[in-house]
Amino acid sequence: MKYKRLGLIVAFCFVSWLVLAFVIFSENSLKIEGDESKKGLLLKHIQKLEMQISQQEDTYKALAMKLNELKQQANRNTGHAHLKEVLQTLELRTNSITNHKSNPLVIKKTSREQSVVLPVLVFSCNRPDIRRSLDGLLKYRPDAKKFPIIVSQDCAHSATSEVIQSYGTQLTYIQQPDQSEPIVPPGEFKFRGYFKISRHYLWGLSQVFRTFNHTAVIIVEDDLDVAPDFFSYFSSTYKLLIDDPTLWCVSAWNDNGKASLVDIKEGNQLLYRSDFFPGLGWMITKKLWDELEAKWPRSYWDDWMRRPEQRKDRACIRPEISRTRTFGKIGVSNGLFFDKHLKYIKLNEIPVDFSKHNLSRLMQSTYDLDYVRHVYSLPVVSAPDVRTNTNLPFDGPVRIAYHTKDAFKSAAKLLGLMDDFKSGVPRTGYRGIVSLFYNGRRVYLAPNSNWKGYDLTWS
Ligand SMILES: *[C@@H]1O[C@H](CO)[C@@H](O)[C@H](O)[C@H]1NC(C)=O
Ligand SMILES: *[C@@H]1O[C@H](CO)[C@@H](O)[C@H](O)[C@H]1NC(C)=O
Repeated sequence: MKYKRLGLIVAFCFVSWLVLAFVIFSENSLKIEGDESKKGLLLKHIQKLEMQISQQEDTYKALAMKLNELKQQANRNTGHAHLKEVLQTLELRTNSITNHKSNPLVIKKTSREQSVVLPVLVFSCNRPDIRRSLDGLLKYRPDAKKFPIIVSQDCAHSATSEVIQSYGTQLTYIQQPDQSEPIVPPGEFKFRGYFKISRHYLWGLSQVFRTFNHTAVIIVEDDLDVAPDFFSYFSSTYKLLIDDPTLWCVSAWNDNGKASLVDIKEGNQLLYRSDFFPGLGWMITKKLWDELEAKWPRSYWDDWMRRPEQRKDRACIRPEISRTRTFGKIGVSNGLFFDKHLKYIKLNEIPVDFSKHNLSRLMQSTYDLDYVRHVYSLPVVSAPDVRTNTNLPFDGPVRIAYHTKDAFKSAAKLLGLMDDFKSGVPRTGYRGIVSLFYNGRRVYLAPNSNWKGYDLTWS
């Protein structure tokens, strides 16, 4: 049994690694005191262990290559469903070993990333229920210095103001001073709320970056619940946002994050790139604000962000399972959308310590190779077959192909996905690809592999 043996080797490597990691940690936690020679000896010991780890790494790489070869062979023999299954299990196991292995190394971070202050800016107006949001933030906030909370209130609504002030020094309270009626073009009077929101965002964000001089910000609104690992998520993805110039935001929101469309059991650590700006709990840097501030729009700021002139082909990171959920039914955007869609979004409950994860596969250079190649290597099936779970004679991920707007929309409707486009981009889309989890199976709704970019006329 070739595969059994391979499995044994993998398991053996994992165990050896665990032992090594344990030894390293115990060595590190020894009180380093006494004379220099003791220190020198310790250093030597550590170096030796480091070398052994790197040798182990080579072994893993060799194993992974071997596994890949076998997989390709299995793919050629398409009849061997069982063989594929065995290989998939093995691959999953190798991946989990690789993740464990990299943990001690990922923890090393530069002081800049560790010390960066990530304020949470809460936009508020006339909802005393903001208490629920603030309680959630305070409940899960691991560090008040690293994550100061700034509540910016518009509307001068006194009941809301009282609630905010009741938190005392746990937060910083600022008020948008301009309470004049915004000038609204004829015919848009009923949308004047959107003009006020845009004005408030402009003011609040410039406070954070110009007055408080922060280098990044996490933006939420007064009607959001946050997940227990909300802060871990943003603090660990910050490095990606800084290192990858093709990213412009991190969002806590999956627009297609209904419980029926995500992998609740195992998807809590899954993250993606998205060309669609999701909002609803999002992080940007001052550098981006320097770019946007001068041209900030007078209304509809979120759709403005989604236009190509602003987005400039940059992506956001978003999770499989949302780290925010909105509880606000009455707001500027209508309650209908809440009842039909928003209230079904699943909030993550099983916390992930993202600082222990290697997120570098989300960098564009790696992701575009691995993710895109993976999606286009999958068997193509039809949306109706996925919906009814029929005519799919194999387990594992599949792809549904689309090449017109209507084909996308009808597949999306059938599967319960959001079917709208903003500036040609479908919600959660990355290079046109929308990922979902359906009947226990990963499914990608993907354009042709010769995809040339988004079509602005798709709306
Ligand atoms: C703002 O922060 C930057 C570093 O991030 C610093 O160089 C600058 O002096 C600060 N400005 C003010 C007004 O505090
Ligand atoms: C993280 O993963 C990438 C591959 O995506 C790899 O090249 C890199 O070495 C890993 N980093 C660590 C510290 O393990």
